[in-house]
Amino acid sequence: MNAAAERDNTGRTTARRRIAELRDELHHHNHRYYILDDPLISDAEYDLLFRELQGLEEEWPDLLTTDSPTMRVGAPPAPEFESYRHARPMLSLANAFDFDELREWQGRVYRQLDLAGEEVEETDPSLEDVTFLAEPKFDGAAIELVYENGILTAGVTRGDGETGENVTDNVRTIRNVPLRLRQVDRKARSIPALLDVRGEVIMLRSEFDTMNRKRGEAGEQLFANPRNAAAGALRQLDSRVTATRPLTFFAYGIGRIEGLEGKPLERQSEVLKALGGWGFRIADRWLRADSLNGVEEFYRQLVDDRESIPYEADGLVVKVEEFRNQQRLGQVSRSPRWAIAWKFPAQQATTVVEGIEISVGRTGALTPTAVLEPVEVGGVTVSRATLHNREEIERKDVRIGDTVIIQRAGDVIPAVVKVIDEKRKPGTRRFKFPDTCPECGSDAVQPEGEVVVRCVNLSCPAQIKERLFHWGSRDAMDVDGLGEKLVEQLVDCGMVTDPAGLYELKVEDLSLLDRMGEISARNLVEALDRTKQAPLDRFLAALGIRQVGTHVARVLAREFGSLEKIMEADQETLEEIFDIGPEVASQVTAFFSRTENRGLIKRLLTGGVAPQWPPEGAGTGVSPGLDFTGLVFVFTGELEVLTRDEAKRLVESFGGRATSSVSGKTDYVVAGPGAGSKREKAEELGVEIINEAAFLKMIGRA
Ligand code: IVH
Repeated sequence: MNAAAERDNTGRTTARRRIAELRDELHHHNHRYYILDDPLISDAEYDLLFRELQGLEEEWPDLLTTDSPTMRVGAPPAPEFESYRHARPMLSLANAFDFDELREWQGRVYRQLDLAGEEVEETDPSLEDVTFLAEPKFDGAAIELVYENGILTAGVTRGDGETGENVTDNVRTIRNVPLRLRQVDRKARSIPALLDVRGEVIMLRSEFDTMNRKRGEAGEQLFANPRNAAAGALRQLDSRVTATRPLTFFAYGIGRIEGLEGKPLERQSEVLKALGGWGFRIADRWLRADSLNGVEEFYRQLVDDRESIPYEADGLVVKVEEFRNQQRLGQVSRSPRWAIAWKFPAQQATTVVEGIEISVGRTGALTPTAVLEPVEVGGVTVSRATLHNREEIERKDVRIGDTVIIQRAGDVIPAVVKVIDEKRKPGTRRFKFPDTCPECGSDAVQPEGEVVVRCVNLSCPAQIKERLFHWGSRDAMDVDGLGEKLVEQLVDCGMVTDPAGLYELKVEDLSLLDRMGEISARNLVEALDRTKQAPLDRFLAALGIRQVGTHVARVLAREFGSLEKIMEADQETLEEIFDIGPEVASQVTAFFSRTENRGLIKRLLTGGVAPQWPPEGAGTGVSPGLDFTGLVFVFTGELEVLTRDEAKRLVESFGGRATSSVSGKTDYVVAGPGAGSKREKAEELGVEIINEAAFLKMIGRA
């Protein structure tokens, strides 16, 4: 080899090494930035690395590969898209529009799986071998990504489900689509030889708004909504255009997978975790649940939070967790039987904003409400709609006198969706958001990183009233007679400042209030007294911890069994619990770490409030300290002393599970007269069979 060639060769080797290094580094930083939202270096430092790589690739064009981070800038226009046949069809989903329809779907699932034997109620929430996974239904464009030996080789639209369009160049420009799969941490699964990833390309709300604003300023046409914008961007023939659109990819499933080392993936949740481990962004909230009750609460929360979720979701997708069950269920026409979309109700109408009012909630949040010209939405007359917070008013530029679209979703307060700009008349007025609390005059501030403006005064009467009213509400302590009017009087005359104060009320004091005779006063004191022995889950729900509704409260009570243990639990312990996600866990720990909350609890306990677990009634006369954690019971045949429900509740109150089908995981079958197939199955499997009397003895109630 001559000297020049040799120099060239060394140069090439060095370049190759440096290129590999740079790509690794850039992939890593991309992941930190786009997936973890936690960059390690500044944008300028990133640009420097990026440009160094671009320079080297220009110098050594033969070293350029399709998985290089520089490929995200887009390729020259294509005359048209090639069609691409999906290895496995991309199916669509059947819809459920309310909880009943979801239950009907569950009934069909159970029937299909032949779990609904003679004694199984179809809606029985705890059939043991079937569990569910729920996650948001992203409202964007479905796409399949093909990875061969970890390298992205194709991106394909859904098309008709069988054949889609090859939009690989466009997909490469999406910043959070891994061009090359990596194991992002030690828990990540090995990279399979072949992998089809399925997910949705969406545009985050905030990025959509910014983009549309800029387009407006530039006199360009605006996109109607994030979904249209995302779908349009994906189908650009010039991928350099796609590269300028802020797209995000959420992965939710896989098609083909070959050559995965280690344990095969057996459940939907394992797929999500594996996808996260390979560098994909997955839903920030998802839930595994063994009953639809958990799913329902998740749905309600999502509906409530819908406006604050960073992307548009048009429902929840509920899937059967286990692939084994998915396979047995199969599909009907173009939809799998194992999944369903539980759609958010969307009901909209147009009306005029007559004014804007501010109310103060339990947590001191100042919430603006639009007072509307009354309008009918889905059979209900709506005259007020929430504007959520200050930023929302600004973002949507809602002014008094504007014509707006409002939306009613489920049983939540209607919201203002958008202003119809074309209908804005002269004379509309901007609203000045107050910087003091309209109820108590204290400062109202917007804490760093939050969107909500809050009254800083914890003893603000409006907050106190909301907290007390919540304390007595039906899902909380259910105090008979503690209505809004009464709470108002109690707070206004300074008799009560927090829930603990309720338990200090005397009949004599109460009798002095308006419209309160001695009898009603006595009734209220007695009603309050009765709640002193309330079940722990009600007590927890009454505390008003954010994100802790009746279901989560019950899960916490069941898992920990005592208030002290819940108060001590740390984030990690909480997150390990089925049905409890990181968000809920951090709300719980944050609540109990605050001095004023600990103080309140102490005063409640000294005032005689003693939350019970297991709940009274379920546990009368039973052995204290009994622990069924990890034990699975099946009741079959007739019970003579207990009802099915009571029996189940008893088992649960001791930390056990009561399910409806017998399997290898069952510990006890409690069989009464008339027991049939389940008894036989238990005999076959060698599961211990006892009668009701033995069960009662077991729990100390014989
Ligand atoms: S699972 C068999 N999960 O909804 C289909 N789909 O109406 C299994 N979608 O084309 C799909 N978010 O693109 C699934 N979290 C999610 C989803 C989701 C959005 C889309 C999907 C599909 C459409 C069906």
